[in-house]
Amino acid sequence: MVAVQDSGVEPRLNSRIEKFRDLSPADRLATVGDAARLGQADRDALRGGVLPLDLANGMIENVVGTFEIPLGVATNFTINGRDYLIPMAVEEPSVVAAANEKDRVLIGLGGGCREIEVQVFEETQVGPMVVLHLLVDVRDAMGANTVNTMAEAVAPMIERISGGTVRLRILSNLADLRLARARVRLTPKALATKEFTGERIVAGIVEACSLAIVDPYRAATHNKGIMNGIDPVVVATGNDWRAIEAGAHAWAARGGRYTSLSRWEIDAAGNLVGTLEMPMALGMVGGATKTHPAARAALKLLGVTTAQELAEVTVAVGLAQNMAALRALATEGIQRGHMALHARNIAIVAGASGANIDAVAKELAADHDVRVDRAREILLRLGKEEA
Ligand code: MEV
Repeated sequence: MVAVQDSGVEPRLNSRIEKFRDLSPADRLATVGDAARLGQADRDALRGGVLPLDLANGMIENVVGTFEIPLGVATNFTINGRDYLIPMAVEEPSVVAAANEKDRVLIGLGGGCREIEVQVFEETQVGPMVVLHLLVDVRDAMGANTVNTMAEAVAPMIERISGGTVRLRILSNLADLRLARARVRLTPKALATKEFTGERIVAGIVEACSLAIVDPYRAATHNKGIMNGIDPVVVATGNDWRAIEAGAHAWAARGGRYTSLSRWEIDAAGNLVGTLEMPMALGMVGGATKTHPAARAALKLLGVTTAQELAEVTVAVGLAQNMAALRALATEGIQRGHMALHARNIAIVAGASGANIDAVAKELAADHDVRVDRAREILLRLGKEEA
């Protein structure tokens, strides 16, 4: 599997692996492991189930477990003249399974195609185009397979009626008829901290949002903060985070200019009012949401009963995350809190384990000096004290 190079010391990797798809997972791992000259520890790590709870606990807050998703390797990539084997962790299968059946089930559940819309683009770089939208109620499914299957099924009929040629038959991730909305109202008192008055924080959040509304550079980061809340829920419930991301950013640019997904305003009583409305095509009945045991458990943990409820919860998390970021930005800045949370990671990188992770992290955060070399010093000192 390794192409030996002419005179170089390091043999170049060859990403072209015949019949890779036909191998068992163990054989695939052995093949890419040989090709990339991986040691046993790395092969074991790629096999999965290797994130210990104490390490996970050091990486993020409020840890209760770990979440695995399938890891595949894409072959046949030559980029800038160099071959790569590309690791990809994703939950989405490439096989469309039994989607016509799904249709019958969908209609039985009260869903199905509700309407048809037509858009004409008189001018494109290859001539005029007609786009036909099937508006489908997919109930509690994410719906991609259902919609794609319907699009393919109706294509011959559309060609007969129109006399044209149907080209792309695919869903749109700009699911602007599948919106979820969250709204929050907070009194200044609820927002006040030791260092800042509630009124100052309310004004700061509104100012920050005002900038994100007009400035696409700020909007991108503002919206990234929202997605910090949304993506983890989407991933944990086995949903397609690329679809959600694509829909979110297309929605943010729907007016022709990229803008903030959320709005923060002050009401007549001086309270802070935040709203977030965006496409949220989440499912609960198919794909990884059903096959991934942890996704099923996560849905049970959430206790949501419909995809719309899941969407609303997810958007609320996005709004809360946005508020937390703006509050920090409008006051002490993001780095203080961020680095304090990051301190556990830094402690682990410096070699801390067990109870020492917290001890080192605490000291780093208290000193506002979250650096690996400082963490090593603390670790060394703790080691001497324990000895
Ligand atoms: C960092 O992951 C997210 C933030 O940059 C979001 C924001 O700036 O609003 C803090």
